[in-house]
Amino acid sequence: MIEDARVLREGFVPSDIIHRDGETNALTRVLDPVTAGTAADPVLVTGPSGAGKTTLTKFVVDRLRETALDVESVHVNCWQSYSHFRVVYKILEGLGKTIDVHRQSTPQDELLNRLAAYDGPPVIVTLDEADQLEEARVIYDLYRLDAFSFILVTNSEEELLSGLDERVRSRLQTAETIHFDRYTVDELTDILSDRATHGLAPEAIDREQLRRIADAAAGDARVELSILRSAARRADCQSAARITAEHIEAAIPEAKREVRSKNLDSLRQEQRHLLDILAEAGELSPSDLYDRYTDRVEDPRTKWTVRSWLQKLAHYNLVEAYGSGPNRTYRTRNVASPSIPPMACSTVASRFASVC
Ligand SMILES: Nc1ncnc2c1ncn2[C@@H]1O[C@H](COP(=O)(O)OP(=O)(O)OP(=O)(O)O)[C@@H](O)[C@H]1O
Ligand SMILES: [Mg+2]
Repeated sequence: MIEDARVLREGFVPSDIIHRDGETNALTRVLDPVTAGTAADPVLVTGPSGAGKTTLTKFVVDRLRETALDVESVHVNCWQSYSHFRVVYKILEGLGKTIDVHRQSTPQDELLNRLAAYDGPPVIVTLDEADQLEEARVIYDLYRLDAFSFILVTNSEEELLSGLDERVRSRLQTAETIHFDRYTVDELTDILSDRATHGLAPEAIDREQLRRIADAAAGDARVELSILRSAARRADCQSAARITAEHIEAAIPEAKREVRSKNLDSLRQEQRHLLDILAEAGELSPSDLYDRYTDRVEDPRTKWTVRSWLQKLAHYNLVEAYGSGPNRTYRTRNVASPSIPPMACSTVASRFASVC
């Protein structure tokens, strides 16, 4: 059933990005000065979860590095590297300049000075999930460095800008924004079809079935790939030659749970407190939630940081937001418990370890 497990994997960067020609061209054009040795203007890449922002950004930067010899690049995931120190450290690390940096004792300013002293080829830095940066100052500090060009990736430009101080915001407001719309069912069907062609045996799944999966994914390519993986896993487990409608219907809730559980796993303990508090209370306004949060933890983060976490949790479908402005409230989002239990199959672990 599975001919090439790699192409079904979450982190796989496809050799061709489908239905994003406009966005690919726009980003390539903004970054073009880098190929001539000068820094490009900062650019914002925005859009909902699963719209292909991270994949396309990596794809464009990789392609540019294939054509231009003297370009460096560093991709920083700000969800994991959220502090000033960690971001600067990650960039230095990507450039191979962290020898004799001690995580505990090297001051933040010294790290920044090292970056300022960098005199190699131009560097493209992608700050992915930039809305999760704890301090906006890092963007301001980085922007002053001549050799670096920045791509900021975020779900919502508005959410990112609202948290930044005036100096950074005014710089970013002039930056070009490349917005990714949620995929349509037809687009998702094509993306899936391409993966199925390369990853599965011929005729393992037909176009109508791919369309059913695309429809269930509600615009999110990550979810649809997860459904396909799960359906293929079920079919393989039964040694079936084809994926059936039953495999797909069972895979849909399983895959949604899988995506949700990966999102949950990516949360830090301090962020999980918010989910716990919401689960206990049922529904809370951001300020009530913040009050309870500060009561619960020893070293609470700022209101702004907590608000950015909440926005991220909503993008990850872990919480739901109701109302807007002062009437906004949050609730945890429940995923229906499985009517069809997850597949238990002794062959799964060995044959599918590489796609799960
Ligand atoms: N146009 C496309 N062609 C092929 N595969 C795609 C395309 N768009 C997205 N994908 C696949 O969908 C998955 C999700 O895409 P990606 O991680 O880039 O989304 P994202 O917009 O960065 O989401 P998030 O905001 O949650 O980080 C990836 O596995 C990626 O390979
Ligand atoms: Mg992403």
